[in-house]
Amino acid sequence: MKILSIETSCDETAVSLIEAKGEFPSATYEILGDALWSQIDIHREYGGVFPAIAKREHAATIVPLLEKVISEADCTDKTYTPEIDTALAEQIKKLLEREPGLADQLLTFHTEHGAQEIDLIAVTSGPGLEPALWVGVNFARALALLWNTPIVPVNHMEGHVLASIYDAELDDQLTPIPFPAISLLISGGHTELILMRDWGKYEKIGQTRDDAVGEAYDKVARLLDIPYPGGPVVAGKAEEARKRKLPEYAKLPAPMLHSGDLDFSFSGLKTAVRYAVQNKSLTEDEVLAVARDFEDAVTTVLLKKTLAAIDEYGAKTLIVGGGVSANQHIKRMFEATLLTSHEDVTSYFPRRGLSTDNSIMIALAGHARAASAFAPNSTDIIRADGNRSLA
Ligand code: KG4
Ligand code: ZN
Repeated sequence: MKILSIETSCDETAVSLIEAKGEFPSATYEILGDALWSQIDIHREYGGVFPAIAKREHAATIVPLLEKVISEADCTDKTYTPEIDTALAEQIKKLLEREPGLADQLLTFHTEHGAQEIDLIAVTSGPGLEPALWVGVNFARALALLWNTPIVPVNHMEGHVLASIYDAELDDQLTPIPFPAISLLISGGHTELILMRDWGKYEKIGQTRDDAVGEAYDKVARLLDIPYPGGPVVAGKAEEARKRKLPEYAKLPAPMLHSGDLDFSFSGLKTAVRYAVQNKSLTEDEVLAVARDFEDAVTTVLLKKTLAAIDEYGAKTLIVGGGVSANQHIKRMFEATLLTSHEDVTSYFPRRGLSTDNSIMIALAGHARAASAFAPNSTDIIRADGNRSLA
């Protein structure tokens, strides 16, 4: 089964074409084409992602990305004549009327490249920034009509879960994991603990009451004059402080450590960093130390709550996903702690390139959900939902 996947939930526009051989979850996957464009340089000057600009940039780049993927994969339907009947062209124009120029770009693309032999179109329908999500959703609906291909709306967070167990070394398969599994999803918009009793069965058992971890990293970065998104830079500074064994700069709280539930809160920690640094001119060594003190506090809370979840539900597998799972210190601490106290629990982190947003994970989630695909002409049901929840 060939799956074209589209991701536009935040500030990355991504399109992939993946061939799944076999049934989910034991299929092998081959990446036939993959293209991603990050808008970060554009949003940086605003200090965060600006939804109207994200939407505009998705609409401007999605056809070139599709073109790149299609040329890598070469699955043009050779029997197809690129004539589009007027009614269909009108339908496409209506679907894409909110994205100026996109319908014309797509129709030109179609005339040049013809229909593609694709079995399923998977598109992120949420959670995310709604104006940004709509670009991907409407574009996917238009493609479904043009190519007469079924379409499946995908939950972005299910993508993050599957990305973490997608093992390129193991014949491009999902690692067969024992259940129950706990998923710790840590990104710019989410911090949640999810219980998985089986494939596709998700139960939310903990979440942040305010800021997400990635958001806290980015806000602390701003306090330290590091441009958006500063998470990875803060992480780099923290590593440097550790390497040089710099003394503690600030005593920071590890919030919610003793709350007795599996919820998180990071806004108090961010405020504590603000009090520790405001109206002071920090030396570069002090900046490194604050970054490390912050990261240590974050890691302590994430670890303690995740271990509590593992114990409470007798989990055999830990899946860590989302942008912050790229953090090497968090990964090391989780792996070392599990090794000493929970050696029967195996942990999975995404391989390089699959922790932050991408469309390969959307293809994997699309394959998981292939049975609930919609027919191409019933696409009215598919909507973007910024608050779509996994459980
Ligand atoms: O999953 P993602 O790409 O987008 C969302 O769905 O939110 O996550 C992006 C977030 C940003 O807040 C970014 O600062 C953070 O992940 N991030 C990191 C690291 N790499 C990305 N935070 C800490 N350490 C990292 N190495
Ligand atoms: Zn994400």
